[in-house]
Amino acid sequence: MSERLKVEGLYKIFGEAPQKAVAMLEGGADKDRVLSELGMVVGLSDVSLSVPSGAIYMIMGLSGSGKSTLARCINRLNEPSAGRILLDGRDLVPLGEAELREVRRTRISMVFQHFALLPNKSVIANVEFGLKLRGVPAAERRRRAEEVLAVVGLARWAYHQPHELSGGMRQRVGLARALATDADVLIMDEAFSALDPLIRSEMQDELLRLQSTLQKTILFITHDFQEALKLGNRIAIMADGKVVREGAPEEIVLDPGSDYVASFTREVDRARLFDARMAMTAAEEVVEIGQLRLVPDARTADLIVVDAQMQVLGAIRAGDVERIRAGAAPEDLVSADVVSVSADTKLIDAARLYRSGRPLVVVDEGRRLVGRLTPERMLAEIAALSSQPHANSTGAPHA
Ligand SMILES: Nc1ncnc2c1ncn2[C@@H]1O[C@H](COP(=O)(O)OP(=O)(O)OP(=O)(O)O)[C@@H](O)[C@H]1O
Ligand SMILES: [Mg+2]
Repeated sequence: MSERLKVEGLYKIFGEAPQKAVAMLEGGADKDRVLSELGMVVGLSDVSLSVPSGAIYMIMGLSGSGKSTLARCINRLNEPSAGRILLDGRDLVPLGEAELREVRRTRISMVFQHFALLPNKSVIANVEFGLKLRGVPAAERRRRAEEVLAVVGLARWAYHQPHELSGGMRQRVGLARALATDADVLIMDEAFSALDPLIRSEMQDELLRLQSTLQKTILFITHDFQEALKLGNRIAIMADGKVVREGAPEEIVLDPGSDYVASFTREVDRARLFDARMAMTAAEEVVEIGQLRLVPDARTADLIVVDAQMQVLGAIRAGDVERIRAGAAPEDLVSADVVSVSADTKLIDAARLYRSGRPLVVVDEGRRLVGRLTPERMLAEIAALSSQPHANSTGAPHA
């Protein structure tokens, strides 16, 4: 993935003499000291991050840590005090009004937690509103609005009034409005936070579904770590205007690096985060007995039968191998009763598929054998994950 959006050494000070505060922060002062000595509020202090094209990049942190300020600086709703914001390598900070308007029209759009729908206008008029302000001709903006309403599943609601919609549906209108602009970068500031849990989870699924086809570059702000894990390819965690931890979700869970970060990761159910790959024994050795190609596993009493391409044909009990050597017909002894999962199946889901007596194998997209899962290994792995230093206090993954 190439880099779409890059933030370098970004500062935002709310106050009369921001440069004085920036200098003080560069000298090692923190947010509290700048406030007590200069009376200025630090929004962002030396924030750098890099968002690859097509990624969902999560920004997390407690209230007041600077998440919204960062979002607002990126499309210049807030004026940065220092630093650079590179969109495909072009710095947005020095842009004038006209260029900025162009960037907002074609490249970056925002979805907020509570965005106001115009109450007396239909859903579709609301979606079109931004396009109208930008002078897009009526027929074209109607066509575009119809298109994006279909994308978010609201085609049938186009000519209804906002008060007829549920909270989740209104939030979809917000998403539709952002998609209508054709911007390839979406900034979503707590876009789902006001929704009740069930609708919120549906919206998350919806976003992932849309993203798999639209491939936008999304900066998603949340203070819910489970949401960050579900949606994010990478996560940056902010405190007092700074990024204090950045990485892939699993890295952050396994190695939070500070109590502050650990406080977010503590509630995480690790068995949901890690996948089958982690607990499998890789299939390496193949033994040939007569016509059969068998993959043994020292931990189990059966062997997996594969063809020349390593595609799984079934399983055979170790004790029956001797009978085949002695001339018994393989068809009578090879059982097709094998359960297969992919390497990125979540451990918890793989564990649920396990049935006593049926081998659980890991296969690739071509149904070729890559490894083997045993219940003992899965349990051991889930237990080990749950008892990491920062795991939840009960040590047990929740259902
Ligand atoms: N317009 C403003 N004027 C003065 N200070 C501001 C302004 N906007 C934000 N701040 C300050 O900047 C800091 C970061 O605020 P910001 O809104 O970015 O936090 P946040 O992480 O989005 O919090 P939340 O989770 O509550 O939305 C806070 O200390 C806040 O008081
Ligand atoms: Mg905020």
